[in-house]
Amino acid sequence: MAKRGILRYRGYDIQDLAENCEFIEVAYLLIHDKLPTRTERRNYARLLNLNSMLHEDMQAFFRNYPEHAHPMAVASAMAVSLSSFYPEMNDPEQEKTISATRLISKIRTIAAYSYKKSIGEPFVYPSHKLTYCENLLNMMFSSPVADYEFSPVLVKAMNQLLILHADHEQNASTSVVRMVGSTGADLYASVSAGISALSGSLHGGANQEVMQMLETIHKSGGDVDKMVQRAKDPQHGFRLFGFGHRVYKSYDPRAKIAKQVCMSVLEKLGIHDPLLDIAMKLEERALNDEYFIERKLYPNVDFYTGITYRAMGFPTNMFTVLFAIGRLPGWISQWYEMQSDPHKKIGRPRQAYCGPTRLTYVPIDKRTAS
Ligand code: SDX
Repeated sequence: MAKRGILRYRGYDIQDLAENCEFIEVAYLLIHDKLPTRTERRNYARLLNLNSMLHEDMQAFFRNYPEHAHPMAVASAMAVSLSSFYPEMNDPEQEKTISATRLISKIRTIAAYSYKKSIGEPFVYPSHKLTYCENLLNMMFSSPVADYEFSPVLVKAMNQLLILHADHEQNASTSVVRMVGSTGADLYASVSAGISALSGSLHGGANQEVMQMLETIHKSGGDVDKMVQRAKDPQHGFRLFGFGHRVYKSYDPRAKIAKQVCMSVLEKLGIHDPLLDIAMKLEERALNDEYFIERKLYPNVDFYTGITYRAMGFPTNMFTVLFAIGRLPGWISQWYEMQSDPHKKIGRPRQAYCGPTRLTYVPIDKRTAS
């Protein structure tokens, strides 16, 4: 469906899910292959709450990271550390449900703790009184001296943005999660590897790069033409971040929704962000440029999300962690799909060797600098 710019999770159109669901319903859909009933959703929410805290001893890990540590590096380390605190259960079915729930719930706490450490504020614990996204926002932005004031528009936007990121067939990080899991490594280790893969600027790290690119254009007076020329010039090797895709050769359906979410959040908050004007000008310029048209380069999921995250109060270096929080149910469902394959084998890509075929050994004293 990618060629036609259509994205569906288990048959449901991304637009329908983003408009009508909470993120935990979509997580449930991806992992349990069906949208939950009201009772199933209530039980799932309760299970997520029961698994939202981190072991207190893990706080020492956060405290010993330097303040400038990138939250993606921290998240990857903390994800694999979970297996030290929550050893595998004997019952595989129970293990499947609990470890998936633990990761989906605790990844928020990990993200928020890494942020609080970076700004020198105390950790805020999750609360059973709050929903999944309310907890994420509260752990990030409340403090002992000021409660976080919830806005239904922002909570809805948080749900929608996480839904947009939840799964995307065999992208780089999902393939890594499957590959690591195929060796027999546990889910925590596989997800930790997926977080690392996602951090790359050509993949999940692009949402952070888009903001830096828009800021550069803004600081240079809003001249999008210069940035477009740079992206077109092969000498530069520069790519327009938030544009292009391995499989979408038309407008990324998630980018359309992300743009709508962005405009509704900025309107609700009464924010006029010049970066949104620049982003729309850049989009319009590129979509009418032969270079981009010929190569079928359109805005992707990362192009508008950062402007919304910033308006919600997230620092730029947290944007890719938010991508990871959204992608987690996709990674987990793909990992379990791989595990449940009766014919599963360890991943082993081949490569075509094109070097010299047979050389005679030369002792080190007889070797010459080539
Ligand atoms: C994500 O795979 C997924 O599903 C990923 C993802 C997910 O949900 O998991 O959708 C999330 O990673 C989205 C992509 C985020 N990355 C960026 O926004 C970084 C900027 N985009 C590019 O780096 C690039 O478009 C990629 C990496 C996304 C895709 O690269 P491709 O498909 O390998 O494209 P290519 O290298 O084959 O490029 C084809 C041509 C080249 O020009 P020519 O050599 O033919 O002259 O298009 C050019 C490229 O130079 N090109 C770009 C460009 N993207 C491709 N030129 C300028 N700016 C760009 N962004």
